[in-house]
Amino acid sequence: MEKNNIYTTDGKVKHLSSEENINTKLGKIIGKKFIEYRKTWDSANNFETVTDFPLFLHIDMNQTCNYKCPHCIIAYPEEVAGYYEGKYLGFEDFKKIVDEGSEYGCPSISPQGNNEPFLIKDLYKYIYYAHQKKFIDIMLNTNASALTAKRSQEILDSGLTRMRFSLDAFTQDTYEKVRVGSLPLDKIIENIEIFLNLKEKGGYKLPVTGVSFVKMKQNEHELDGFINFWKDKVDMVSIQTFTPPTRNIEKYKKFYATEQLADSEPITEFKCVQPFQRVVISNQTIAPCCVNFNKDLTIGKLGKDTIHEAWHSKKMNEIRNLHKEGKFYLDKTCKDCVNLIYPNNKILEAR
Ligand SMILES: C[S@@+](CC[C@H](N)C(=O)[O-])C[C@H]1O[C@@H](n2cnc3c(N)ncnc32)[C@H](O)[C@@H]1O
Repeated sequence: MEKNNIYTTDGKVKHLSSEENINTKLGKIIGKKFIEYRKTWDSANNFETVTDFPLFLHIDMNQTCNYKCPHCIIAYPEEVAGYYEGKYLGFEDFKKIVDEGSEYGCPSISPQGNNEPFLIKDLYKYIYYAHQKKFIDIMLNTNASALTAKRSQEILDSGLTRMRFSLDAFTQDTYEKVRVGSLPLDKIIENIEIFLNLKEKGGYKLPVTGVSFVKMKQNEHELDGFINFWKDKVDMVSIQTFTPPTRNIEKYKKFYATEQLADSEPITEFKCVQPFQRVVISNQTIAPCCVNFNKDLTIGKLGKDTIHEAWHSKKMNEIRNLHKEGKFYLDKTCKDCVNLIYPNNKILEAR
């Protein structure tokens, strides 16, 4: 994978791929409707377009995971009041969300937030439902621990377009430290290889596959080995920026990667793309982004508001305008979030 094949929509996640970028590859496989949707996506990301309906429905179906990774909010429910509020979503709730999205021609969806999606029985039915309802881009991240051959086959037949395996390590020693409660790394690699073999033997072009690595102090020394091991096995390698999951910066400081703390590349401006792309639905709460402590950014409630109403709510418009003008620091949640991700940021108003 060459350096010029790095793709990012927000600077926080960098995707390395051997194709021009993974979306070019998907455009070749899926065709015109995918290419058109990505043009709108890019325009929204450049703050040029506000679509009539979100382009991406990011759905945190529940807050259940079999791992307790020390960098993830799932391990610290007590620290985020409200994160576990409300009832988990089920298939009927998912169908309602998909049906509304489908009515507006929404192109992309993921039935996975901070949880482990394969703990949902019949996950493939969720994917297939969205696929039948004409969603163009359907994606999942998984730790691959519950990925049996049978479930791999079901997913291959479901209409999923992107599947990313989160590993965050190259050696067993690091894996068990950063993915606490995990199965042995060898077993996870075996599960992934079974999936990749079934995909190849069956002649499936989709989903495109990736592995991901949240770069932290504890694993950064393994990044090169990780990339070299995976680069020819999957379509992309994603390197994510560590984001403290709560406002408790002192507690999570130890996870920052060396370059994240270094003074070398301070950011001088910041505009968040998420309120222009998506809504995040966590249980019944509709929010403009994936921040876990964003209860004050609630833009609607399922059962009371439609997603379309939430997308056009006063609060959502205010947030979009702040970001468009580069004044994210006027909102407390956005200000805290930026300072957590970029601990060396130099935007004076944000300090
Ligand atoms: C939260 S998990 C949920 C999906 C699934 N259980 C998995 O392991 O992929 C999705 C991704 O977010 C990453 N992640 C968790 N906590 C993070 C943090 N504080 N900062 C950045 N990425 C994080 C995980 O390592 C994983 O790659």
